[in-house]
Amino acid sequence: MKWLETNQIILVTKLEYAIETHGLKKYFGKIHAVDGIDLRIPKGSLYGVLGPNGAGKSTAIRMLSTILYPTDGSATVLGYDLRNERNKIKKLIGVCPQELVVYPRLTARENIHLIAQMHGIAKKDYKERTDELLGKMNLLNRADSLSKTYSGGMKRRLNVLMAVIHEPELLFFDEPTAGLDPQSRRVVWDFIKSFQERKSTIILTTHSMEEADDLSDKLTIFDHGKIIATGTPQELKGRLGEGDNIEFKVANPEMRENIIERVKTLDFVRGGKHLGKQRIVLNALGGLRRISEIMDSVKVEMYDISVRENTLEDVFIDLTGRRLRN
Ligand SMILES: Nc1ncnc2c1ncn2[C@@H]1O[C@H](COP(=O)(O)OP(=O)(O)OP(=O)(O)O)[C@@H](O)[C@H]1O
Ligand SMILES: [Mg+2]
Repeated sequence: MKWLETNQIILVTKLEYAIETHGLKKYFGKIHAVDGIDLRIPKGSLYGVLGPNGAGKSTAIRMLSTILYPTDGSATVLGYDLRNERNKIKKLIGVCPQELVVYPRLTARENIHLIAQMHGIAKKDYKERTDELLGKMNLLNRADSLSKTYSGGMKRRLNVLMAVIHEPELLFFDEPTAGLDPQSRRVVWDFIKSFQERKSTIILTTHSMEEADDLSDKLTIFDHGKIIATGTPQELKGRLGEGDNIEFKVANPEMRENIIERVKTLDFVRGGKHLGKQRIVLNALGGLRRISEIMDSVKVEMYDISVRENTLEDVFIDLTGRRLRN
């Protein structure tokens, strides 16, 4: 909430977007890591940033969290100017970076206390809260061991807690589940969701389509420093139509163009795309039940056949002809 005083009349303007950017760029010499992005991140949302390695996700997060200075463009974060009001922004945000920043010679409890002290939180306020957080992340029983003795997954969970101890309005999680097993990943997902229920805005980068799909209210897909699509997971997947995706390999890649043309003559096949050097992905209504008709139409031998509903990966394949992960 921002108070503006104009000619004795007090106006209250409610901030609609936690973040707005206009043509935001970050260049490292010739590398255009972030190449002119326009973002509008609704306040209170859990906003996903999905993209392959090197797409510019972390660079965007590092700019918006005031770690890096932009090369060009403008942005507001919680209503403050990203170039001129950096100190105000710093006080209101929490950042869980992709690279772990756990102090190895401190215990989990000490690591969190240290961050709380750096934010000027009173001891009586952070002590109980630290233990509550450690419990939520299943770290309480190891809370007094030096963090250098933790597994990679434990360090990552501690890293997440260190970003939230001061209960920031806006949280950046950069690949918070990288390297976690499915069970720990679920613990972190639930934890992140619980923060959103407290009305924080959360920005989450990931190259996991499941994570982006499961968690995001809205998401944006990055590729080569640019935004290539934005929407809710349902909207993005809906763009591909209602069919299933049938993916397969063919022995003779030169034939692929002909195969797609031929298969597209079947009335239930809505489209086809090349994927890499050998694969084809078809979108077909009721694909699973009609696989034999497709095989008859393809005429050449098909390998590695799989059928799936639309995923965010299919959205990425449709836009780029590549997978999120190679
Ligand atoms: N400090 C830096 N100096 C030079 N180049 C950099 C620097 N930081 C990032 N880059 C380059 O910018 C591009 C985007 O990197 P970034 O880390 O933002 O990608 P990412 O989407 O987070 O990838 P990942 O999924 O692997 O974390 C890459 O080409 C990377 O090599
Ligand atoms: Mg990254």
